[in-house]
Amino acid sequence: MQMLTAGIDIGSLSTEAVLLSDHKIVSYSILATGADSRRAAEKALNEALGFAGAAPEDVRFTVSTGYGRTNVPFADLQVTEITCHARGALYTFPDTRTIIDIGGQDSKVIRLDEAGSVIDFAMNDKCAAGTGRFLEVMARALEVDVDELPELAVGASRAAAVSNVCTVFAESEIVSLIGQGVPRPEIALGILESVAERVVSMVKRVGLVPKVTMSGGVAKNKGVVQALERRLGMEIRVPDEPQIVGALGAALIAESRWRKATYL
Ligand SMILES: Nc1ncnc2c1ncn2[C@@H]1O[C@H](COP(=O)(O)OP(=O)(O)OP(=O)(O)O)[C@@H](O)[C@H]1O
Ligand SMILES: [Mg+2]
Repeated sequence: MQMLTAGIDIGSLSTEAVLLSDHKIVSYSILATGADSRRAAEKALNEALGFAGAAPEDVRFTVSTGYGRTNVPFADLQVTEITCHARGALYTFPDTRTIIDIGGQDSKVIRLDEAGSVIDFAMNDKCAAGTGRFLEVMARALEVDVDELPELAVGASRAAAVSNVCTVFAESEIVSLIGQGVPRPEIALGILESVAERVVSMVKRVGLVPKVTMSGGVAKNKGVVQALERRLGMEIRVPDEPQIVGALGAALIAESRWRKATYL
């Protein structure tokens, strides 16, 4: 019998589950959310339990987060993504003061004080500019995979101007740049720069305080990370698996709740 706590992050594109035991990550899973977020949450947890060789009864407390957090019937508590990303980022990098989370549907910048409490945040939630979705639509227009963009951009001597922030207009802009014969690496760099520009404007809203940690799937995009580092003039730390930061934070909150409830 194991004593585990679980965190589940149901995002617009991906769902993650993290299992913790004694403040350490035992296992995790990442899968596509798809149309049924409730099923995705169940599948993610079962997969993580399988990796851990554990049973559902081993989980003492479950916290859900992400846009689909209300669709997890087996969760004991729902917590906002802001709180969970903060908790998850601090676990890996305790001196974090600014968190940049770029997911599929929204991007957020979270400001922490010296004690690690959230004191402000900015969010881009109604428009796809500066999100993974924007990158995916633009990559498709360029006929490459989203994770091929950074490599393609390495060969660029300058960035093509992708000036439209509206995804629909930016997509036609890409098509017309291709038509004008602009080299594809320059367009790829222009796309990455456009995301970075948008995110930097959010960073400015909450104020830039080092050190900066990045979470979310787009943190795996080295081109976006480098473009952000250039614009911010400082290093950005990325955890080994940035996509599980929200679920990790949720599992840590579950652990605190469980300990409090049982006076462990
Ligand atoms: N290996 C990879 N390389 C580059 N980009 C990646 C990779 N894996 C995921 N991504 C990016 O991550 C994005 C999804 O991020 P994430 O899983 O954090 O989103 P989400 O949590 O489902 O969305 P949200 O938080 O907005 O609801 C994708 O749109 C894609 O751009
Ligand atoms: Mg997310």
